[in-house]
Amino acid sequence: MSEQHTEQKPEQKKLIFSGIQPTGTFTLGNYIGAIRNWKPLQEEYRCIYCVVDEHAITVKIDPAKLRQKTLEAYAQLLACGIDLEKSLLFIQSHVPTHAQLSWVLNCSAQFGELSRMTQFKDKSQKHPEDINAGLFDYPVLMAADILVYNADLVPVGADQMQHLELARTIARRFNSRYGELFTVPEGYVSPLGAKVMSLQDPTKKMSKSDENPNAVILILDDKDTIIRKCKRAVTDSGSEIKFQEGKDGINNLLTIYSAVTGKSIQDAEKEFDGQGYGTFKLAVGEAVADHLAPVREEYAKLIADKAYLKECYTRCGAEALRYSQRILNKVYRKIGFVASEIR
Ligand code: TYM
Repeated sequence: MSEQHTEQKPEQKKLIFSGIQPTGTFTLGNYIGAIRNWKPLQEEYRCIYCVVDEHAITVKIDPAKLRQKTLEAYAQLLACGIDLEKSLLFIQSHVPTHAQLSWVLNCSAQFGELSRMTQFKDKSQKHPEDINAGLFDYPVLMAADILVYNADLVPVGADQMQHLELARTIARRFNSRYGELFTVPEGYVSPLGAKVMSLQDPTKKMSKSDENPNAVILILDDKDTIIRKCKRAVTDSGSEIKFQEGKDGINNLLTIYSAVTGKSIQDAEKEFDGQGYGTFKLAVGEAVADHLAPVREEYAKLIADKAYLKECYTRCGAEALRYSQRILNKVYRKIGFVASEIR
């Protein structure tokens, strides 16, 4: 990938960018909605993946915890199958071009647009004591992450589509004001599991920040914990294992089962036809635990080897910087900044 990355984008392979916040151990929602898709995409696309630590400081996080979680996030992504022979995986704050482009894009983003972002509204409600400008500006940094590589495709869960739509708007606005430069990126949302729901309130998305640990399966949870959480999952009244309107709990478990086993929802329904919720929940727990076991194993090895992790994120970060610097230089030229020998 290295040489291609310093040259113009070749026609045949499209470029993917995606990011994830290191605010905690990844959830099954992150995994099914996003990370699980990142691995197979590597076969067809040139992929750039990023641990977005700059996004993580928009809510209060202890510095020591952020440092630790960032390394853990990096190791988790490698353990999930990100292959550095095929893709770049780095830490956002190591590549300053993201923040630099973000400032420029701020001047193409409208206050009204940012005010309408549902994630901003939710997080402001959750943290009324700290509605900082970074929280408001978060989607512009996300747009910069994507546009600074001229990415074609952005694989995300459904909750990020509003931010992606804004990135597209900003790209178009910039292009029409200064002339064509940015690729307008497409979103890629997996048809299955775009929104994995909380196990305790299946009308809410499964989220790292949920205060109830039983609501969330973490990808590093051990087998017993996963099975216990699945057994306790809130399900609806009734006894049929069928995907249907209004049965959010069972629909969520069927989606999870289907995602980790590769079976279709219909086949899963047939498999559990006539069986009770108890049997089904146990089977879901076992399937999830078996699916995640190799990730846990690989993660344990990787997190113990800090020198290897450092070598990986340093090499990938340097390459991402080289690639994105060329695009940032073009942006600076277009908007009228005087050329600098320093960059
Ligand atoms: P983050 O860190 O909240 O989540 C990472 C990815 O996981 C997906 N996801 C889910 N998918 C299905 N069900 C769920 N319950 C669930 N919870 C999370 C998210 O949609 C996301 O794809 N702003 C982004 C990070 C980011 C980014 C980017 C993404 C920063 N820059 C550029 C793409 C491109 C975020 O907070 O994701």
